[in-house]
Amino acid sequence: MKIVKSVAEMQGICRELRTRGVSIGFAPTMGALHRGHLSLVQRARSECQTVIASIFVNPLQFAPGEDFAQYPRTFDEDCRQLEAEGVAVLFAPEAKEMYPSGAVTTITVSGIGDRLDGASRPGHFTGVATVVAKLFHIIAPHRAYFGQKDAAQIAVLRQMVQDLNFDLELVSCPIVRDADGLALSSRNRYLSFPEREQALVLHRALTEIEQSIAHGERRSSALLQIGRITLETATGIKVDYLAIVDARSLLPEASAERGALVAVAAYVGRTRLIDNLLVA
Ligand code: PAF
Repeated sequence: MKIVKSVAEMQGICRELRTRGVSIGFAPTMGALHRGHLSLVQRARSECQTVIASIFVNPLQFAPGEDFAQYPRTFDEDCRQLEAEGVAVLFAPEAKEMYPSGAVTTITVSGIGDRLDGASRPGHFTGVATVVAKLFHIIAPHRAYFGQKDAAQIAVLRQMVQDLNFDLELVSCPIVRDADGLALSSRNRYLSFPEREQALVLHRALTEIEQSIAHGERRSSALLQIGRITLETATGIKVDYLAIVDARSLLPEASAERGALVAVAAYVGRTRLIDNLLVA
């Protein structure tokens, strides 16, 4: 696996691949990889001729006081895993390579970018959209792979791809969970053993909502009440949001119909975790 740090070199490699007609699958990450990230790479490998991954802890998507400095950085282990999964090139630029002094342009996806995590973390999705747009320009992938766990991020990026005419397919990959249901996240590393147990309530609340839907309850107000009781009576949990929304616009839905997104964000101790389900 070739490791590339410069934008110019990365662009050169990708230009050459495209000229040769090689299809490029791209898995952008912030490192601290887990099986969820590897599932993106595996899907990319199965659908594209070559796979490029990136590791870049993007300062622009963290607000002051958030966990940018503490965000886990496990570069050597990440490289071993990506290489084992058959990634051809890893793009791992420094911050000054991505944001040289004088760079002032950002991308804001109005409306959608201010909903769910965008409401709780103002400016977060401008940071995400800006870095992903830059990565798309540098790598020009045919397909780009993102985890469904970050459902709001996917909605924001889909809108950006459509609005800015990016010539690529954005692929959403299923949430990968531990055996007990906890959705994999790089931030799970922050959890102490008791906090990890407490964190299971996110999946439990979603499962209860899913079961109520299966039993015929579709009213969002009733479903949210069920989830809220579970979350709010759990120890060590502070709910940020629990919402039933349209998966594309992220606007609230009065009824949880097929394709609606049930999304939750909560603090477990100081760690903010998210999870969601798509109504079947
Ligand atoms: O989902 C992530 O890990 C990040 O938000 C992304 C898409 C790599 C942009 O920094």
